[in-house]
Amino acid sequence: MMVKEGRVSIETGNAFYNPRMEMNRDITVACLEALPEISDYIDVMSASGIRGIRVKKEVSRDIRVTSNDWDEPACEIIKNNAEANGACLEVSNCGANTLLSQRSFDFVDIDPFGTPAPYINSVCWASKRAMGITATDTAPLCGAHLKSGIRTYAAYPLKTEYYPEMGLRILLGKVAREEAKYDRALKPLLCHTTEHYIRLYLGVSHGRAEADAMMKDIGFIVHCFKCKNRFELKGLAVQATETCPVCGAPVRVAGPLWLGMTKDRAFVEKVIGVLEAGQFNKKERAIRMLSLVRDELDTSTFYDHHAICRDLKATPTDIPTLLGDLKRQGYAASRTHYMGVGFKTDAPINVIRGTVLRLSG
Ligand SMILES: C[S@@+](CC[C@H](N)C(=O)[O-])C[C@H]1O[C@@H](n2cnc3c(N)ncnc32)[C@H](O)[C@@H]1O
Ligand SMILES: [Zn+2]
Repeated sequence: MMVKEGRVSIETGNAFYNPRMEMNRDITVACLEALPEISDYIDVMSASGIRGIRVKKEVSRDIRVTSNDWDEPACEIIKNNAEANGACLEVSNCGANTLLSQRSFDFVDIDPFGTPAPYINSVCWASKRAMGITATDTAPLCGAHLKSGIRTYAAYPLKTEYYPEMGLRILLGKVAREEAKYDRALKPLLCHTTEHYIRLYLGVSHGRAEADAMMKDIGFIVHCFKCKNRFELKGLAVQATETCPVCGAPVRVAGPLWLGMTKDRAFVEKVIGVLEAGQFNKKERAIRMLSLVRDELDTSTFYDHHAICRDLKATPTDIPTLLGDLKRQGYAASRTHYMGVGFKTDAPINVIRGTVLRLSG
């Protein structure tokens, strides 16, 4: 099958190709454009080679690109596609962990089938300046497949109404702990959850002090399933209360997970600018989603407006009315990219519930 994305045309042959990931690849190209310090890039799991070929052809400066896949026929397809597009890149035929134990790159990108967990250590070891990680095992990460989540990420995810953010933060927490052991810290540049996958773009900084500071952003979320109150406990040796301070019901604890920022606002703004100026098939959708990412509050959870209304037997208003009301009361409030009917706020749960009830008339 012949496909055209961005400024390249690819013959997929028998290699894996997922058209639903085109926006993901558009954003990857835009992120690389927005990271001038990156001069070499590896797509560790390349399949047809489309991601690396696009980075080579579409980023305005010359980046050294390596496209790797452990499947030999896929490597032949990558070579043909690179040649057909006039993209001069290195094709490598190696297992991901073997390759990453021997070589390092400014930007390491992994896009596995399912979980990235078996490769996170290698990606942390081999990424000099930044990394991109895709995960499609959202059920274990979000708490829907609890035992699998615990096994894979050495963390306890809770299935809450903010499950997409729970998954992203469990994954980020795992990457941060792997990174810290190399006396390095990660700095989230842009992270999003879209459809069936989570995608992280993370900067890397080196030094014990940086790693120590980063570890302060690891911790736990205490959640009350009765009233939807939730709060953070930072650190790894924490003491959680057993009951909810708002309603007295027993609480549950999720983590360890990432409690810090999940974006660098200026970077997201820059990526949006690249998408606006460039030739990307999915640019409108990408810009819409990234504008929400840019503008959302940096709280570690969000609320599902409809779930709160169900609890209260209230009629939902539109989200802008709710956000405007919370802001007039002096609280911060925003939409969130995780869910159309979701919102973020620093208002306590009783204020949120009172506001939703009052607006419901
Ligand atoms: C989801 S596809 C990659 C899609 C590609 N990045 C894209 O954007 O179209 C996963 C690819 O990883 C390769 N793969 C899986 N495990 C691997 C490993 N341990 N080392 C190297 N390649 C691997 C598979 O052969 C497959 O081609
Ligand atoms: Zn409660």
